[in-house]
Amino acid sequence: MIIKHKYLWISHIIIRMSVEKLIKNELKTGSSISSTRVRIVESPDSISLAAGDPSFTLPKYIADAVYQAIIGGCNHYCFGGDPELKIAISNYYENQFGYKVDPEKQIIITSGGSGSIFASYGAILNPGDEAICLDPAYGGGSGGPRYFGAKTVWAKLKKLEGGAFRLDEESLKKAITPKTKALYIENPGNPSGIIYNKNELKIIADLAIDHDFCVLSDEAYTEYVWTNEKYTPIISLPGMADRTFAAMAMTKMFAWAGMRTGWVITGENMAPYVNRVPGSGASWPIMKGVIAALNGPRDFIEGEKKEYKERIDYCVKRLNEMPGVKCATPEGAIYIFPDITGTGLTSDEFVRGLFEQEKVRIGSGKGYGIGNGEGNVRMSMIRPLSTQKMPAWFEMTPNTTLEAAMDRVERFVKKTVSK
Ligand SMILES: Cc1ncc(COP(=O)(O)O)c(C=O)c1O
Repeated sequence: MIIKHKYLWISHIIIRMSVEKLIKNELKTGSSISSTRVRIVESPDSISLAAGDPSFTLPKYIADAVYQAIIGGCNHYCFGGDPELKIAISNYYENQFGYKVDPEKQIIITSGGSGSIFASYGAILNPGDEAICLDPAYGGGSGGPRYFGAKTVWAKLKKLEGGAFRLDEESLKKAITPKTKALYIENPGNPSGIIYNKNELKIIADLAIDHDFCVLSDEAYTEYVWTNEKYTPIISLPGMADRTFAAMAMTKMFAWAGMRTGWVITGENMAPYVNRVPGSGASWPIMKGVIAALNGPRDFIEGEKKEYKERIDYCVKRLNEMPGVKCATPEGAIYIFPDITGTGLTSDEFVRGLFEQEKVRIGSGKGYGIGNGEGNVRMSMIRPLSTQKMPAWFEMTPNTTLEAAMDRVERFVKKTVSK
């Protein structure tokens, strides 16, 4: 069995000591504990395509449900999470993916995607264990193991000629050791845009079963699938229920970033371990809002998807017309990850130069791992096209639309390449 008896207090002390050592070291060296991404100070006329914080206004019936909950007595503890919410999540997962989940025994409510990841690692890892991440990966996922005294071990995704990323079976196999207890994948991938196909999922599942490790499947973007293939959650594969921790969140699917709600779906035998990790849970009135959202019509989500797809298609086309830039259409999620090696710049130089010269803020591919994302940059599709409506609170002028952002990128690229 993967999860052994936990000597909670001893583990706690060891973890505290290693995290404190880590912080001291990082303060000494000046490096960042959270990420190696290029840090640039914001400027008032900048356009940010950096964070993945969706900017849509929630439908009124969701806000009403939250308000009614506040004035209706949901200001108490809600130990274990609202049972009605767990039923709504179970129905949602079954409707979306055809996989049945026991609401009481397999779902743990968390405070968002990060909470779901953290609680899953907390359930799986003991000090000295190893968790494999596939470079490039979301930093909130790859950074987690160290807080449990465990180590992140990197394998690579394979970069194809056209710029897309795929599973690299050999690289993954090489990273597996007797200490491997978890593999973290984002499916769909951030920043890679990958959606693992059935063959890749089977390879991962077979390795997990053969080598006795768990899969932390980050499913924050399952609403955003841009291919015609039906999404397969890895938990649905034979033998994977008690090895999978599906980390989900309302954040991206319902533009819920500041309202902090998510959940973990795992096997009946594993759920109690997730439940034991302290500090998770969500606010009860917000849980009532999630129930209204999940049980309500899908118009809001379908509207978001339509707009994201228009933005992605527009940017992919614009970028592919720029000299030295190649951009694959992502299979999923809300980012594009163009290859900029043809411009002659490194990812960090591109990010820095684009901000200094054109005030467009994006992410360096190098920061999403230990270097396999070098040559790529991440652009978040959170800004609207000029034809799309945005909420009144979203500050936008004709100079800061997505078209304007692409015009600035193009000017920067042309200037760079012609030097
Ligand atoms: C793949 C992935 N997982 C999890 C999260 C974190 O989600 P949350 O904001 O709900 O903590 C993000 C945020 O960008 C993400 O990209």
